[in-house]
Amino acid sequence: MQFAGSHILSVDQFERADIERVFEVADRMEPYAQRRRITRVLEGAILGNMFFEPSTRTRVSFGCAFNLLGGEVRETTGIESSSLSKGESLYDTARVISGYSDIIAMRHPAAGSVAEFAAASRVPVVNGGDGPNEHPTQALLDLYTIRKEVEHSGRSIDGLRLAMIGDLRHGRTVHSLSKLLACFRNVSLTCISPGELRMPGAIVEFLRSAGHTVTETDNLEEAIGHVDIAYATRIQEERFSSPEEANRYRGRYRLNQAIYTRYCEPNTVIMHPLPRDSRAEANELDTDLNENPNLAIFRQTDNGVLVRMALFALVLDVAEQVADHETRVTWYTGKRFND
Ligand code: CP
Repeated sequence: MQFAGSHILSVDQFERADIERVFEVADRMEPYAQRRRITRVLEGAILGNMFFEPSTRTRVSFGCAFNLLGGEVRETTGIESSSLSKGESLYDTARVISGYSDIIAMRHPAAGSVAEFAAASRVPVVNGGDGPNEHPTQALLDLYTIRKEVEHSGRSIDGLRLAMIGDLRHGRTVHSLSKLLACFRNVSLTCISPGELRMPGAIVEFLRSAGHTVTETDNLEEAIGHVDIAYATRIQEERFSSPEEANRYRGRYRLNQAIYTRYCEPNTVIMHPLPRDSRAEANELDTDLNENPNLAIFRQTDNGVLVRMALFALVLDVAEQVADHETRVTWYTGKRFND
């Protein structure tokens, strides 16, 4: 694909070579993200960070990634604090914000809304999540993490065995990740969910028609025994008609250290897009896994910065100039990237 000037709206835009290009640029971002060097390659550029739905890591890591490339960030959070709450259209909002920005990252609760916004934008738009539809940058950072985690034991994404657990119907991260996995070879995907929250049939069929194996089950313990990755997800309460309806499924699957020890292979990597729901009635990924070295959830969040830096650099066409704009780090940087 042509990255320069393009919107990043869906994983459907990516072929395997494009994914590998993102990963190659993301690898080169590590010294800047880890505060070993500074680059000012995007000095003067402005990111419009438009988040019309709650977010912690996607919003902050988009901003952080842009700052780490030397750019500045202007943002709005929540529909209620924007003029969308006064009836302004996505079209008008896009025309306005794209006059203030060089690139826009956006999250919105409605499926298709980011594409609608992008159609009116004068600058590239990156989808930070549109309702239950897609979360392409999360899928890219998840796949980047998977690649890094499994290569330690001589494995690759080709031939990967992965289990997705939880609300596979509403979880946009699992939808986007599944479609990206289809670009690789011989993936075995086990979908573990209550019957009502199964992975959409179109995605299952898409994977199968691309030659992959998809198994669907509601039994966690039986299904996580022979996988490289156990990818847990939260019940997406905000996509249900009421909290009471979500309560029917909350707490149905809980991965904890005892279950991991009893059922998983020793090197199974544990992932979750976060936020995990740590309330007692949910707790889909127990905090007693926090010291498990195979828990990759905070490596995922760190990798999110690298992948988002790579996408900004590619879309704004500076990926090969990053090192030309380097300076030294002069402040105390701590040891947070060494563990
Ligand atoms: N993974 C993810 O999208 O997290 P946030 O909702 O906090 O951005």
